[in-house]
Parts: sequence; C-alpha cells; structure tokens
Amino acid sequence: MELPLKIYNRISIFYLFCIAILGVLLRLMFVNPVGFSYKNILHTHSHIALLGWVYSAIVVLLYQLFIRKKYRNRKKFCKIFIATQITIIGMFITFPIQGYALFSIIFSTLFLLCSYWFAYFFIRKTDIKLKNSNSYKLAKTGLYYLILSSVGPWSLGIIMTKLGASSPWYKNAIYFYLHFQYNGWITVIILACFLYLLEKSNISLSKNLFKKFSVFLHISIIFTFFISVLWMKPTSFIYGLAVGGSILQIIAFGILLKFTQISWKHLKKSFSKFQKQLLFILGFIFLAKIIMQLLGSFPNFANSMALDREIVIGYLHWNFLGIGTFGLLFFLQYFKMIKLKQLETYIFLLAFILTEALLFYKGLILQIGGNLFSSYFLYLFLASCVFLLATGIIFIRNLRH
Ligand code: HEM
Repeated sequence: MELPLKIYNRISIFYLFCIAILGVLLRLMFVNPVGFSYKNILHTHSHIALLGWVYSAIVVLLYQLFIRKKYRNRKKFCKIFIATQITIIGMFITFPIQGYALFSIIFSTLFLLCSYWFAYFFIRKTDIKLKNSNSYKLAKTGLYYLILSSVGPWSLGIIMTKLGASSPWYKNAIYFYLHFQYNGWITVIILACFLYLLEKSNISLSKNLFKKFSVFLHISIIFTFFISVLWMKPTSFIYGLAVGGSILQIIAFGILLKFTQISWKHLKKSFSKFQKQLLFILGFIFLAKIIMQLLGSFPNFANSMALDREIVIGYLHWNFLGIGTFGLLFFLQYFKMIKLKQLETYIFLLAFILTEALLFYKGLILQIGGNLFSSYFLYLFLASCVFLLATGIIFIRNLRH
C-alpha cells in the first residue's frame, strides 16, 4: 500500500489547524469557563503539536528529501506512517477524555516505538548517494536527539512510582523531553533542511568547517539543557555549563551565518523574493532565540524567569511556533510539498508577534510588580484567534491544492 505525498502533507497540516483550535480553547478558558478540563486539553494540545504536527511534517520531509525514490521503500514508509497515525489519533481521543491515564499512556508509548521504527528505517534506507552529505549527517543526529528526548517520558513512569509527581525530577524529566525536542530534534532537522537546500544549489560546507560547526552545535545542545534545571538554583558549575552552551550555540550560528553570507551571491538565485523574506525572518527568529537563551543562563535572569509561567510559555512558543512551525512551513513550501502564499504567512507572523508580545509583556509586568491592563486575557485570546485564521487558510488552500 502507498499513499500520495499530498495526503501525508494534508494530515500534518490538519494537525496544525487542530492545535491552533486547542490553543485558542486553552486561552478562552482564562476568559470564560467552557466546561472542559484545562489539564486534559493542555495534554492534548502539547501532544498533538509535537507528535501530530511537527513529527508528521518532519518525517514526511525527511522521507521526501532522502528516501522516496525507491519504490520498495514507499510501501514500508506508508506502513510506518499509518501505524504512527493510529497512535496519534489514539492520543487525540484519549487525552481530552481521561488526561494522563492508561489508554493515553499506551498510545504515547506505542508512538515512541513507531518513532524508533522510523529512525531505523531512515538510517537504513537513505539513498546511498546522499549518505556522505552534510545534510544527511545532520538529519541523522536530529533523529538521535529524537530518541534521546524519549528518555524523558520513559523515566516519568519510574519517577511517578518511586518519587511522585511533586518531585523536582518529574519536572526535570518533562524539561529534558522538551529541550531535546525543540533544541535537539526540531532545530537540528531545520538546519539539516537548510544544508540540503545549499547542497541542491551545489554549495556545501567544507569537511573541516562542517566538523567545526557540528562540534559547536552538538556540545551547545547538550550543555544548554542545563538552562532547564536552573529553576532548582544549582551550583555555579551548572550555571557555567549553561552559559558555555549558549555561547557555543551563538558561535555555531555565527559559522553558518558567515558561510551563508559568503555564498549568498550564488545562493540567492535559488529563492523567490517571498522565500528570501521568509528566510531572513527565520534567521532573525533564530538569532533572537539564541540571545534569549544566553540571557536565561545567567543567575539573575534565570531565577526570575524560571518562576514566570508566561515567560516560559512565551519562550517555548518562540521555539515551537517561530522556529519549528514557521521553519517547517518554509521548507515544506520551498520543496514544493505544500502551498503557502503571502496572505496566510503574514497573518501567521502577525499572530506570532501579537501573542509573543502579550506573553512577554505579562511576564515583565509581573517582574516589576505592575498591574496588567484590564481585559488582558481577552486580548490574548483574540490574538490567538489570528492563528486560527492563518492555519485555517493554510489547511483549506492545501485541501484544494
Ligand atoms: C497555534 C497556536 C498555538 C496556541 C494558541 C498555543 C497556546 C498554548 C497555550 C495557551 C498553552 C498553555 C499555557 C499555560 O498553561 O500556561 C500551550 C502550551 C503548550 N503548547 Fe502551545 N500553542 C500554539 C502552538 C503550539 C505549537 C506549534 C506547539 C509545538 C509544536 C505547541 C506546544 C505546546 C506545549 C508543549 C505546551 C505545554 C508547555 C508546558 O506545559 O510547559 N503549541 N500552548
């Protein structure tokens, strides 16, 4: 059995629309009670976002770029994809009804097994000609981060039974998972897609430069995990690792930026005007993220930010929506896997700017002890509705595509 590529893409875009609905529902609950359990909807939103939208979009992208050519592999991929979708639909049904309980745990565990199956498939079946490319090497490490992130959910079971959900290790296991998802898996795949794009234009980082870039990048990904445990006010050694990791990430980004700048004269021919704008915006979002990350590694900032839910959610969504979602939409569009026009892209960016500004505003106001303007939650809800418009247009456009 085999499905056309557009079906795979439509499925992930459908999840994107669904998580926007769930996110808006969560924000509506701060304005008006709507009779759903906040916790259950939050679990549904976060699982469908990371596993439904981001994961499905990435595996289809990796499949299309590195594997699809061989007929035999198409059937195998279809099997893996369908098995994964069953687990995602299972989570979509069980999380709103029962939250974290037997059936949702079974489906999320089966999902993890399907993701290992995909990782094995990818590493074995990638086109032999691509195996020496920098983009493949980076994509492969992206999959290692995906596997590493799953240590978080596996350890939750042990922590729950031995230490209880109020233990700091419970929170750290979730932060471990989130960190290796957005800083590891998602970011590395976005970077691998960028290298693939360069290679398609016959531009490739030299062996030495790629090695340097990879070493800085991977050490930085490991070390910046320690930012997630700064809320526990650990020893200064841990702060040192967090700051060191953030600086290394800036250096890694600098290497790639400099290389892109040098190759720009040749590279710019591969982009339309619209794509160039999107790439600049993506670069800016990335730059802002690594600066925020560096600030968050210092004790003064870390102590106040870690306790501030709005800043944590604002920072996480900067990564999920700015780098993950916007980055994936850019590459899906660039590789002609989805249709994306200026209208919905700019509406999406408007929603991103408005919601991030409101989240950081609340965080800062709480820091300085000021008062929120009245109807703050109503405005946050309305700003989030703009995402519904953007993702709705993307979904409908791709249904018709
Ligand atoms: C499309 C627009 C989105 C909206 C309106 C939205 C909204 C929200 C809201 C209101 C929360 C709960 C915050 C709280 O309890 O304080 C949340 C949590 C979360 N969202 Fe989103 N979200 C969106 C997109 C995404 C995307 C694209 C991802 C991932 C790819 C994502 C992943 C998460 C995760 C993992 C959490 C849980 C964070 C935690 O509990 O620490 N969201 N989101």
